[in-house]
Amino acid sequence: MNDTPEWLRDGLDHIWLPYTQMKTASLPLGVAATDGARLILEDGRTLIDGCTSWWTACHGYNHAHLADAVRRQLDVMPHVMMGGLANEQAYTLARRLADLLPGDLSRVFLAESGSVSIEVAMKMAVQYWINRGEAGHTKFVCFENSYHGDTLGTMQVGDMDQGMHGTYKDVLPQQHLLRVPIDDESRADFEYFLEQKAAEIAAVMIEPLVQGAGGFKFHDEETLKFIRFETDRHGVLLICDEIMTGFGRTGSMFACEQAGIVPDMMTLSKALTGGTLPLSATISSAQVNEVFLSDDPNTALMHGPTFMGNPLACAAANASLDLFEQEPRLEQVVAIERHMKDALPKAHDIQGVADVRVKGAIGVIELAEMRKLNWLKQRFVDCGVFIRPLKDVIYITPPFTIEQDDLAQLTNAMLQVTSEWSNEFYV
Ligand SMILES: Cc1ncc(COP(=O)(O)O)c(C=O)c1O
Repeated sequence: MNDTPEWLRDGLDHIWLPYTQMKTASLPLGVAATDGARLILEDGRTLIDGCTSWWTACHGYNHAHLADAVRRQLDVMPHVMMGGLANEQAYTLARRLADLLPGDLSRVFLAESGSVSIEVAMKMAVQYWINRGEAGHTKFVCFENSYHGDTLGTMQVGDMDQGMHGTYKDVLPQQHLLRVPIDDESRADFEYFLEQKAAEIAAVMIEPLVQGAGGFKFHDEETLKFIRFETDRHGVLLICDEIMTGFGRTGSMFACEQAGIVPDMMTLSKALTGGTLPLSATISSAQVNEVFLSDDPNTALMHGPTFMGNPLACAAANASLDLFEQEPRLEQVVAIERHMKDALPKAHDIQGVADVRVKGAIGVIELAEMRKLNWLKQRFVDCGVFIRPLKDVIYITPPFTIEQDDLAQLTNAMLQVTSEWSNEFYV
């Protein structure tokens, strides 16, 4: 604890950390500053960040364009409520997102976190049916290995059997958890399920192409197309949760574009502000929105977080969209993908490795089983990188602006540490 800064030592007894058994928690790394792809620790060490702070900092840390936009906005107006008052940044962002998103996804509800945007999508879906006068559409279909957040509503549409929310399962309403329809059998199951249950389903929810926190499981474009086709055929709403996949992470601006599908609702967060400030969006199609319009106040969506449309966060999001327009982000993702597809398959030769996969700027080594998680985390730090294994996967989701040498250091560390782990613990 001698190297530990005072603020960390003194605060540790009072802070409650995420997903952590506080009794046995190891000390987090004190971060003094960030810079590009780097975390600069309080003790002077520098780590290349393989996680981009839970997949947010897509332009790297401290990008001047984002910092300037937030600083400027701070001087003008840090916040005004959205009830009865309008701020330029929020309205501009809504218009820009509508222009950018596929199809008629054009009605933007802003909130502060990914989980809240999912809650809003769930409320919209349920109310869509109520407003149409079609009672009984109260349930959601979600998929094995899915993760959509930690709040009471969002946990229900996550995989509570294999995910981290099993403790809460018995106190929450049960939703329908199906296999992702990736093969003939699971497709037939999905089809049959919708045939039987469409009248009680509010919406199907999926993380398109890559299920993130559930273990970075991939499915292909055909699967997404199939889901859209069947939900259309059975008149069921489709929600694509692009909180992790949105803004280039899987190789296109939005993952659903790769399948050429348009969901009825989409959720965005994380990289929306380039990793600077909390913000999320639930975007519905004009057709879904239409059902909320009437002379009856009761058909309005009753939701309005205090900090929704916060001008600082929206200024950051607008600046982040500028960067996607002005800098070659998607080309950078292609280069990252190319490097990882070249480097990571070597891990197939390591005993204890179950799979290696790469999609866009996501590189994954899946272990047959996770052992010695804390040992792994420490070894990565020893190698000068911040890589945080999750479930049974060692993954990286680097900033798109990462330099080639830094990226190579991340993939080398993945291979080296996995190999050491295998030698130590897998014999
Ligand atoms: C796909 C997906 N949905 C929802 C969430 C929840 O977002 P937040 O942590 O901002 O509430 C996450 C967070 O990791 C996510 O990856």
